[in-house]
Amino acid sequence: MSHNLLKGKKGIIFGALDDKSIAWKVALESVANGADIVLTNAPIALRMGSIHDLAKKCNSKIIAADATSLDDLNNLFSESMDYLGGKIDFILHSIGMSVNVRKKRQYTDLNYDFLMKGLDVSAVSFHKMLQSAFKLEAISDWGSIIALSYIAAQRTFPDYNDMAENKAYLESVARSFGYHYGKSNNVRINTISQSPTMTTAGSGVTGFDAFFEYANKLSPLGNASSEDCAKYCISLFSDYTKLVTMQNLFHDGGFSSTGVSQELIDIFKKK
Ligand code: NAI
Repeated sequence: MSHNLLKGKKGIIFGALDDKSIAWKVALESVANGADIVLTNAPIALRMGSIHDLAKKCNSKIIAADATSLDDLNNLFSESMDYLGGKIDFILHSIGMSVNVRKKRQYTDLNYDFLMKGLDVSAVSFHKMLQSAFKLEAISDWGSIIALSYIAAQRTFPDYNDMAENKAYLESVARSFGYHYGKSNNVRINTISQSPTMTTAGSGVTGFDAFFEYANKLSPLGNASSEDCAKYCISLFSDYTKLVTMQNLFHDGGFSSTGVSQELIDIFKKK
């Protein structure tokens, strides 16, 4: 259901790979709410994924950008402003990848070249994106920027591996850059800490099915879906949340505040 919360706003959505991607749902929901958007992803993802189908549905342009490349990011912001006809009102950073996770390296046996690559893609890319936009004066006053995070930044989930540090860095960038961008242009920057969600990135983590089910049983409202995450993003892009900034916002059905649930007690109760 659309409330036209983003009517007249212009946005850039990073990270829609296929129809399971959280960014895919955010793109659809943004357009349903009246926004004009540009879609972007790494060149390889444009070849392998189905982003072209999404672009048709959203009547939007795709501009390739490797989020670790400042040249690509500078080009993305310049071209997006030309295409959309002005400065950008909102951005979603929905990018994550750990080479150590992909190669199944244990946390006690990390490869540091892999670690640096994953850190660059998953976390430093957020700073690069913000710095590029800042220098090009690409974001409107009172613009809103969101990156997606996970609670492994605060608590240990052993198989989340070095992505835990990547998310901690990402959340810290939102606070630090949020200060500077808030002071200069009233731009707000937040991270959303999302429930486990069945996507390509999510299901790459060992034991993902088990911790998806565990989180679902622990959370009083159950896991938050990607569709619900998209709706939450729209509220944060909208003018109804103008003074929310530098926050890590849990969108997890109550998981982060729950110690134990009756469903889990029942599993461990001696019969
Ligand atoms: P996804 O696999 O659909 O999205 C990840 C995206 O990152 C892909 O579109 C991929 O092409 C893009 N990407 C990778 N390297 C890139 C690069 N160098 N430049 C530009 N883009 C690049 O998976 P999902 O789950 O939608 O992930 C989106 C975000 O949500 C990630 O930050 C992820 O960590 C976060 N998240 C996911 C959860 C889950 O359980 N799926 C839970 C909490 C957060």
